[in-house]
Amino acid sequence: MKNKFYITTPIYYPSAKLHIGHAYCTTLTDTIARYNRLRGRETFFLTGSDEHGMKIEKNAAAAGKTPQQFVDEIVASFKELWTALDITNDKFIRTTDKEHVITVQKIFTRFLEQGDIYLGHYEGWYCTPCESFWTDIQVGPEHVCPDCGRPVQKAQEEAYFFKTSKYLDRLLKYYDENLKFITPESRKNEMINTFIKPGLEDLCISRTSFKWGVPVKENPKHVIYVWLDALVNYISALGYGQDEDGNFKKFWAEDTEKVHILGADITRFHAIYWPMFLMALDLPLPDREFIHGLLMTKDGKMSKSKGNTINPYPLIEKYGVDAVRYYLVREVSFGSDGQFTPEQFVERINMDLANNVGNLLNRTLSMINKYYNGVIPTYTKGINNPFDGELEAQMEEIIKDYDSLFLDLHPTEAIASVMKLTSRANKYIDETTPWALAKQEDKAPLDACISHLARSLYIAGVLLQPVLTRKAGNLLDQLGVSGDKRTFKDITDENVLNGLSVHKGDQLFPRLDETIEVPYIVSKMEKKD
Ligand code: MSP
Repeated sequence: MKNKFYITTPIYYPSAKLHIGHAYCTTLTDTIARYNRLRGRETFFLTGSDEHGMKIEKNAAAAGKTPQQFVDEIVASFKELWTALDITNDKFIRTTDKEHVITVQKIFTRFLEQGDIYLGHYEGWYCTPCESFWTDIQVGPEHVCPDCGRPVQKAQEEAYFFKTSKYLDRLLKYYDENLKFITPESRKNEMINTFIKPGLEDLCISRTSFKWGVPVKENPKHVIYVWLDALVNYISALGYGQDEDGNFKKFWAEDTEKVHILGADITRFHAIYWPMFLMALDLPLPDREFIHGLLMTKDGKMSKSKGNTINPYPLIEKYGVDAVRYYLVREVSFGSDGQFTPEQFVERINMDLANNVGNLLNRTLSMINKYYNGVIPTYTKGINNPFDGELEAQMEEIIKDYDSLFLDLHPTEAIASVMKLTSRANKYIDETTPWALAKQEDKAPLDACISHLARSLYIAGVLLQPVLTRKAGNLLDQLGVSGDKRTFKDITDENVLNGLSVHKGDQLFPRLDETIEVPYIVSKMEKKD
């Protein structure tokens, strides 16, 4: 395992406010970043905004604002959302940042000088919302964008092109030698069958039809294609092209695991062109690109035109940030599509947090107060056989599973494994019947039982921290665990809890009994965007 970790989300378009789908991607990425930090890996987590392009220029004009004013306002709302969701990005990159712009220009110049780019003419089908040109085959007889399904227009312009043929063999070799580069694997096969096998064309890499972008220094009537501009954020944010001795040297390094998280809609740019740009820059390629699925509503894909994009704020306000993060991470397996419904939301929180973890905490702390005056007894093994042994084995297994699942980018399954442990511990209460053990002369069986329960809760509390950013800490506070005993390494020590005083507080996860209306983003202002 590489000793450092670099993880990114896509940089989002500030063409409208973000919805729960964007929150899904960023929360899952944050959870993975937090896990890596918990594990002691030096981690850098990047998110940001992708601010150039024709669509932003048009939206700003329609709102009577300059593009810069327009993006400044929306980007401020991105940052607010990430604060509300306890997102711990180490940097927020904006493609309008001066350093980024200079780096993009330097890269373009280098490609020109190296002969990776040439000037030609482009004719094709253009999808304005996606900023993408498509071929006849791709738009089909209906002339619609293969990504978003909207109508495309024929367009022609003088443009620079990037020679993809120069790097294609190396890309295919990289796919073959790095089987986990693009996961799930089906996404890689889709790239090969849809784009590479039919014959990959050179990539049109500049535009002359609008102004809001990074100008080509050598020919300023051109602005640099928004996707080259956007993809470069992953290295410009680390200082590439500026100060390369700091974060760039540290995190775009061979001994750093470099991971991009993205939705399926933008796989083509990340899986095909981004590696080629990096090859042209003579830089290492990312280790992983993990393609997650879409979060949808009952009536399908969320889209502004359908007016069914879901606003995360009312959920955070009503249920709290922990519940929203938990739902996002746990409900839809990372990599598959899923559906948001308020009913499933409430059911998931009740089932896992109220009935399972919350119940275990409540029962255990009550017994520690009742039988031990609030002090956790010393951990003793192998007394209530075979139940102690089974629970001990379960604890060890869960710690191992959780770790390997997180490292392999399966946060949903990693968190599900913690629920397995707390369910097992709840069952252990029924098996060992501590209320009966309390009546016995010999206190050893009760000590063992209660200390096993406390240890299960401790492990669960530590392992839930990456997702439950507040309540996992609260759980550990109630158990009396000090702040310096909450890392992944600490949980292998079986004696951490011996003699700690618990502080039973309010119920950690009260049962939710009412659902709310789906909070759509439908305000007039947003519809106009
Ligand atoms: N700006 C480009 C990305 C450039 S990255 C170098 C872009 N931006 S976007 O605002 O459209 O956001 C795209 C990402 O948001 C998707 O790849 C996906 O990760 C996330 N999602 C947007 N809608 C989503 C859902 N409904 N469900 C899950 N994720 C969603 O494309």
